[in-house]
Amino acid sequence: MDVQDKIKKIEEQIEDTVKDIKTSKTLQEMKMRFLGKTGEISALLKNMRDVPPEQRPAMGKLLNALRQWTEEKFDSIESRLKELELKKRYSEEKIDVTMPAEISDDGAYHPNTLIRNELISIFSGMGFEIFEGPEIENDYYNFTALNTPKDHPARDMQDTFYLAEDLLLRTQTSAGQIRVMENKKPPIKILSPGKVYRSDDDATHSPMFSQMEGLVVDKGITLCDLKGMLDEFAKKIFGGGVKTRLRPSYFPFTEPSVEVDVSCFECGGNGCRLCKGTGWIEVLGAGMVNRRVLEGCGIDPDEYTGFAFGMGIERIAMLKYGINNMKLLFEGDTRFLKQFKD
Ligand code: DAH
Repeated sequence: MDVQDKIKKIEEQIEDTVKDIKTSKTLQEMKMRFLGKTGEISALLKNMRDVPPEQRPAMGKLLNALRQWTEEKFDSIESRLKELELKKRYSEEKIDVTMPAEISDDGAYHPNTLIRNELISIFSGMGFEIFEGPEIENDYYNFTALNTPKDHPARDMQDTFYLAEDLLLRTQTSAGQIRVMENKKPPIKILSPGKVYRSDDDATHSPMFSQMEGLVVDKGITLCDLKGMLDEFAKKIFGGGVKTRLRPSYFPFTEPSVEVDVSCFECGGNGCRLCKGTGWIEVLGAGMVNRRVLEGCGIDPDEYTGFAFGMGIERIAMLKYGINNMKLLFEGDTRFLKQFKD
């Protein structure tokens, strides 16, 4: 086949392919195929060597004309494609300013947040300072320093998530008491809110929940101080007529230990469904700080005494707002959350 036939053939091929070019990508591929360094037109130009010298100028003219014709062809396709692509983008980005706006739902404070803020406000009014300990603790702070050594049966009360041999997710905010007493000499008066974790899951337990811990250490602190403070707290959070009572209990880090009940704020103590007919509702654990715990933190138990208390924030929220399933506190449903106001 002589060069002229080849040129003709290439022209036909180009006419044929341009019909199918619908995207910039295929356009680029076609440009490479015909005009690229190793493309078909370049191959013909390379073959000029074999053409007899007297025919070369004429051949060169023909080939240059072919190249120019091809370039123009592709350029015009390119500008047509660009225009189409732009039109498509404009139509996709079209905004109808007359469309009604999407109405976004208002959020609300979570019952936990409301109770936590209320507790902080009540206790800071009594002179407590806030201390927040870490959620990842070691065995010493969470158990041993709280008078709960390795083989202590009280460890069974708190099914623990271990992260490593000596690292765990704290099971109680009481761990923070030790961190405070190690670093601060009495008088100490701290309130410690935070998340705690236990391998426990049913209608009244969740693997993660929140506690509020309190600790007071000074000269001459007695159980009467604890009782007086609790009376004040109960009135503020559950209402004016509420009384408290202490029942003997056991925690390794307090001696004596007590369970604190409040008189039922629903029925005034006569007995109803909320208090299961008893007139009393259990709200927290407390006690006088065990002298072994004070000693371990370098505080002389003959000079100083203290009380501590710890409560579940979800439990207080459920009691106060009449929430019967703890799962509702973890679902984040705004229809549920919006029912609670300060
Ligand atoms: N840490 C206890 C628990 O999680 C609650 C508690 C009881 C905390 C008595 C205290 C306390 O500070 O004195 O069950």
